Amino acid sequence: MDDFGKLLLGQVIGFASDPFDTPATEAARHERRGAILIHKGVIHDVGPADRLRAAHPQAQVVNYGNALISAGFVDAHVHYPQTGIIASWGKQLIDWLNTYTFPEEMRFADPDVAAQIAQTYFDLALANGTTSMCSFATIHPPSVNAFFEAALARGMRVAAGKTCMDRNGPEGLRDDARSAYDDSKALIERWHGKARLTYAITPRFSPTSTPEQLQALGALWAEHPDCLMQTHLSEQIPEIEWVRELFPEARDYLDTYERFGLIGERALFGHAIHLEARERDRLRESGAALVHCPTSNTFIGSGLFDMAGLKAEGQVVGLATDTGGGSSFSMLRTMAAAYEIGQLRGTALHPAQLWWLATAGSARAMHMQDHIGNIAPGMEADLVVIDLASTPAIAQRVARADDFWEALFPTIMMGDDRAVRAVWVNGREVVPG
Ligand code: GUN
Ligand code: ZN
Repeated sequence: MDDFGKLLLGQVIGFASDPFDTPATEAARHERRGAILIHKGVIHDVGPADRLRAAHPQAQVVNYGNALISAGFVDAHVHYPQTGIIASWGKQLIDWLNTYTFPEEMRFADPDVAAQIAQTYFDLALANGTTSMCSFATIHPPSVNAFFEAALARGMRVAAGKTCMDRNGPEGLRDDARSAYDDSKALIERWHGKARLTYAITPRFSPTSTPEQLQALGALWAEHPDCLMQTHLSEQIPEIEWVRELFPEARDYLDTYERFGLIGERALFGHAIHLEARERDRLRESGAALVHCPTSNTFIGSGLFDMAGLKAEGQVVGLATDTGGGSSFSMLRTMAAAYEIGQLRGTALHPAQLWWLATAGSARAMHMQDHIGNIAPGMEADLVVIDLASTPAIAQRVARADDFWEALFPTIMMGDDRAVRAVWVNGREVVPG
């Protein structure tokens, strides 16, 4: 039976193009009675259920009824070690790091802590329908091993890296330029390109790296250009002022990375809220990705990301939880927060744009768009199946919807892990429906 693959039936959503570039409803492909055929971890056929049933009569049918089958969510910026301190009260960025984050990350000196929290994190991510992510670890190499070992065991496509920081952190949470280079290099050799794993060279942010460390990591990236590079950029005004004091010779915050070779099309810059014109120009020219973390930006009090302006000028943009700075593991909650921030800036993001950001957009930001983030033949079978009437409040609103987008939007705004009916990773159902 298994040899003929599995035929999943339900509503199906995918994207033919970027819904910020073409009218949102034309960019999206929605099949009311749809089906997808998956075989050996890959999507082979997508289309109307009637056609696929006729074409693949021996495939094993999995019928999800009215539920929505989508590419699994992709979280383009998260800190798995901060799982245990999500929703910590009352601090803005620098105080939040010093009060909650750094003490928690110090616990990862113990590999058992790292292994246990990696399991908890992956359980939560998958329960929320997130099948891929780009995560920061801590300064400790075993924290990277714990993350990749857990992802490997679950068959997931993920990216992560050792967080490098050699100043302005507490004793016990500082490496140095040499060890950051050596440890990151050893981790690249061990993990990068193994199974579905990608290494991301990870300077935490320029306030916690000396110029020597940034230089060393720039050199490492030049030696391993197919790795990703992830960091933080222009998240909060006091942070930007601090960067100006620490790097008086730099033209702006981005320049503190750029001058050390830490910019390029495989770079992911988390937050990128308070950007200057030169930074926007350089980011666009370089093809680097900006990662919007809306629940974090409201929770930590950082500011309002300019989604409409940045997309209109051609920037690459992804969407992310940024947990534990972000206040949710759910990409549905994250889409809702992105919508609300859009409204505060005067732009209502279309549900197709929000869904694209949480799937294909974030996959593109991670340079994984040929493998994940969409439903199309040849893509890997990482899927989330969404119940569009998962709570009484959502169900009663959906009952009044006139079209698919109106039926989807209540789940975007009010949905959470209760809306996740099933999750597939690499062609295997890992959260049973
Ligand atoms: N800037 C530097 N480190 C961090 C972090 O862990 N979380 C957030 N939100 N911003 C950061
Ligand atoms: Zn972050």
